[in-house]
Amino acid sequence: MVQESKIAVVILAAGEGTRMKSNTAKVLFPICGRPMVDYILDAASDVKPGKIVVVIGHKGEEVANRIIDGWARDNDMGGNIEFAWQLQRRGTGHAVSCAQDQIPGDCEHVMVLCGDTPLITGEMLNRFVQAHLSNRAELSLVTALLDDPGDYGRIRRDENGNIVGIVEANDLLPEDNHIKEINAGIYIAGKETLARLLSRLNDNNAKQEFYLTDIVKKGVEAGCTVASMMCQDVSIVQGVNDRYALALAELRLRGTVLRDLCLSGVTIRDPRNTYIDSGVTIGADTIIEPGTFLRGKTSIGQGCIIGPNSEIIDSWVGDNSRIWSSVVEESKVGENVRIGPFSHIRPDSVIEADASIGNFAEVKNSIIGQGSKVHHHSYLGDSSIGCGVNIGAGTVTVNYDGLKKHRTVIEDNAFIGCNANLIAPVTIGKDAYVAAGSTITGDIPGGALGIARERQVNKEGWVAKRKEKTD
Ligand code: UD1
Ligand code: CA
Repeated sequence: MVQESKIAVVILAAGEGTRMKSNTAKVLFPICGRPMVDYILDAASDVKPGKIVVVIGHKGEEVANRIIDGWARDNDMGGNIEFAWQLQRRGTGHAVSCAQDQIPGDCEHVMVLCGDTPLITGEMLNRFVQAHLSNRAELSLVTALLDDPGDYGRIRRDENGNIVGIVEANDLLPEDNHIKEINAGIYIAGKETLARLLSRLNDNNAKQEFYLTDIVKKGVEAGCTVASMMCQDVSIVQGVNDRYALALAELRLRGTVLRDLCLSGVTIRDPRNTYIDSGVTIGADTIIEPGTFLRGKTSIGQGCIIGPNSEIIDSWVGDNSRIWSSVVEESKVGENVRIGPFSHIRPDSVIEADASIGNFAEVKNSIIGQGSKVHHHSYLGDSSIGCGVNIGAGTVTVNYDGLKKHRTVIEDNAFIGCNANLIAPVTIGKDAYVAAGSTITGDIPGGALGIARERQVNKEGWVAKRKEKTD
């Protein structure tokens, strides 16, 4: 085993990602809700490196900030990660040179990874490190076999099967066309060896770039021991250069997320039509119906039924709740709650245990107390609703006067009749009633009935009289 501080990892993330045709830096494209580069950082940290240096350039500040505020903070790795600027993009070899000064003196080996291979695993990288050490190699690389090697660099070998170099897709010669073994873009080398080989690179190639891949040929020429490890599962070394590859990478990662959830006791009725971000947690015996999206930092309890056709973002849902054709954002939903169909819980809401919301209800920045019912076309915004409250159909908290938002307070066991407008700020006391159709502009004391509407007048014989007049 390599000692923890003996290995440094360099992650190349400075490229422009031209083939993505985007304003977003390629390594920040989300896959199952997380930036692509996070997956490489996850795998890299599994080899317990003494230092991770991320080479940044195109949109470098954005990339660095995202890593510092995201992955590094979540993994408590702030001190272990550094950024190296590659101010001009002159190729992958040049990118590694830019990181060299930041590799700590006590690191003997340097592993180089690309920021656009999100499917690599720590398990594979650890196997690779072990292979490199047991081969006593000075330079090792990962390869894989592909029927259609496309954009990948090809591995050239001599008649004895020894690696002699890598040829990039743009520089292929006719005799390279049969090659099916590709370069995965994953390397490990002794620190001194790497420095020596990098200093020998040139840009005499189709792209006029300093290709990192040329260190292999330079290494062979210098008599270094060059070894390779073939990765049997070619899909894990897939590079993401364009959005089709991105879609395929996401499909695969999503499959892994869903499989892990299923194995932990979650029923996912249709994995082809269920979208769950990496990191979402779900308790056993919960059923996820099709058309459901669970995003960000979402946690779902046990025994819930979520979906069909629901989206839950950055929210917490307690055990045995049912969310049906609805959207929940940045909110907390207690146990045994019913939401939907067709309801929207907007940010900063708390729906306490046993409450029920919907059909067609919207709640925003509100607390709905235990066992309260908010049904049929209601809007509750900026409100505190006690326990056991009944909100009649079409109730609206009138929370906005055009300038400011105001709060509505409804105390325990109050009963709001249908189609009431509650003009905030206003408080409806405990056990109070609001008569249907009221527009309530003042507080109602506990136990009182608030009624605020015109009295009905019946005009006897009105229809017949009108008829006489018009005849
Ligand atoms: C590279 C390899 C290719 C290999 C493939 C594996 C080279 C020359 N080619 O090709 O042999 O099969 O990866 O996926 O290395 N980058 C920089 N600075 C630069 C250029 C690139 O940081 O100046 C970064 C990119 O952001 C990217 C990584 O290096 O994360 C790889 O670059 P990319 O342009 O995607 O290389 P490929 O054409 O995929
Ligand atoms: Ca690539």
